[in-house]
Amino acid sequence: MTERIFIGVAWPYANGSLQIGHIAGANLPADIFARYHRLKGNEVLMVSGSDQHGTPITIEAEKTGKTPQEIVDYYQREFTECWQKIGITFDLFTTTGTKNHAEVAQDIFLKLLEKGYLYRNTISQSYCPKCARFLPDRYVEGTCPFCKDPGARGDQCDACGRPLNAVELIKPYCQVCKTPPILKETEHFFLKLSAFQEKLEKWAGDQKQWRPNVSGFTQRYLKEGLRDRAITRDIEWGVPVPVKGFENKRLYVWFEAVIGYLSASKQWAREIAGDEDKWRSFWEDKTAKTYYFMGKDNIPFHTIIWPAMLMGYEGLNLPYDVPANEFLNIEGRKLSKSRHWAVWLPDYLSRYDADPLRYLLSINMPETNDTDFSWRGFVQRNNDELVATYGNLVNRVLTFTYRNFDGKVPEPGALDETDKNLMDSADACLDKVGEAISRCSFKQAIGAAMALAQQSNRYLDEKAPWKKIKEDKQAAATSLYVAINVISRLKTMLSPFLPFSSQKVHEYLGFNGKVEDYGWQPQAVKPRQSLCQPQPLFKKLDDSIIEEETKRLGT
Ligand code: MF3
Ligand code: ZN
Repeated sequence: MTERIFIGVAWPYANGSLQIGHIAGANLPADIFARYHRLKGNEVLMVSGSDQHGTPITIEAEKTGKTPQEIVDYYQREFTECWQKIGITFDLFTTTGTKNHAEVAQDIFLKLLEKGYLYRNTISQSYCPKCARFLPDRYVEGTCPFCKDPGARGDQCDACGRPLNAVELIKPYCQVCKTPPILKETEHFFLKLSAFQEKLEKWAGDQKQWRPNVSGFTQRYLKEGLRDRAITRDIEWGVPVPVKGFENKRLYVWFEAVIGYLSASKQWAREIAGDEDKWRSFWEDKTAKTYYFMGKDNIPFHTIIWPAMLMGYEGLNLPYDVPANEFLNIEGRKLSKSRHWAVWLPDYLSRYDADPLRYLLSINMPETNDTDFSWRGFVQRNNDELVATYGNLVNRVLTFTYRNFDGKVPEPGALDETDKNLMDSADACLDKVGEAISRCSFKQAIGAAMALAQQSNRYLDEKAPWKKIKEDKQAAATSLYVAINVISRLKTMLSPFLPFSSQKVHEYLGFNGKVEDYGWQPQAVKPRQSLCQPQPLFKKLDDSIIEEETKRLGT
């Protein structure tokens, strides 16, 4: 039976380039998951877009002397280009800047208002007397009231991950002019999160498929007791509040951005699927499963706030799984945009191929704990694992066969125990990898595939067709035939991780079309099938790039 799988991927702020933490944290696992399910023949809808509103954008605009619109247009183009180059296959990557998104967000706002889940309240907000304006959360910095970290921002504390209200900060100051803000009254809409406390506790408690870090974080947050949250702001950039008297205010970016999952699905239905109602089969049909991929700092928005909004709205599927990743550190240090301690994706892609990065970030994915990216690790794993294990397997088998058997798959003799063993391992491995991906255990999945490549190399060392060919051509033919068939399984199971090289192997093996079109099943390569002249799959990298690349960090 085909399943329906909705995949939402955290929306990157359109205020700066993507860096490899975005890829490891959210986009790559989502893409692996989507590619796998498409290969299984399931219906997949994977959406995201750039998060164009809020103070992350206005701060960047002020800093660079551009308009917010110029900033978001620039990064929307850059993001789209990056997805293509690194092979992240969104069904739609849109933006929160569309008319459609504003309409869907306002519809949800009005429905929640009508049902009594939103209410008005006059509150004291941080106001900077020197800048003469209300300070949005991100414009206030200070000490976290929970963990006492001195570097907290008014919207969230990066140290302990808790969402905050700016007025709660200890020793607050204006991010622009460093003046301590005063409090001034202003009217806002609040989301009655407290009304969902019990329902959320029950629902979250039932989600046994969640990772321990996701459940743990959510439970801790629920235990503290949910507080109502202001969902409008005194700011000009964003989605207008559809209520008279609120013309000068906007929806809070987090309230409106999570709605992007729904608005993007509607846009996809209309513009791409060519059936306005097609989004319903992912959102209203109870058998569809919805997955949300993101870094751990986004967990409460996807396991508490968005589910509460959906519960209030009614009739739409709640998140099924929220496989949030931990963080990817860079050379042993926490990523920092302001200190330029990051590996920027456009920069990476200007010098290297997509698959080596996809490989490294898969095998080293921060699934259950923070992991580290180092250029030394990158070069080593590229050379020792991608090139020496998998690439070498493919190359030596295909090049040798191509040369010695007229460019065709040789006719095998009877298979012995060793041959059968390897073939069985390959078929079993395909199941094992698929099963691991479906549980969102991506590290385990790619590890199993690489173990099969290793096992195949040992098999070839033992069978040594390159020597055998002189004395017993049939024996050489048999082991090459077996190896070629294992390689064919490998290109299938590795294709969600390494789509570009899998496509190459697919073609070298003499298959037509796209590797995606052949499904998640053992693809037998028949005797006498014509091969294509193989080229090396991966490039060996020189050690000198370690120093060269490390020097770019922090500058
Ligand atoms: N832009 C946010 C961030 O980078 C993520 C938004 S995810 C969404 O942290 F679901 F709210 F869109
Ligand atoms: Zn804190």
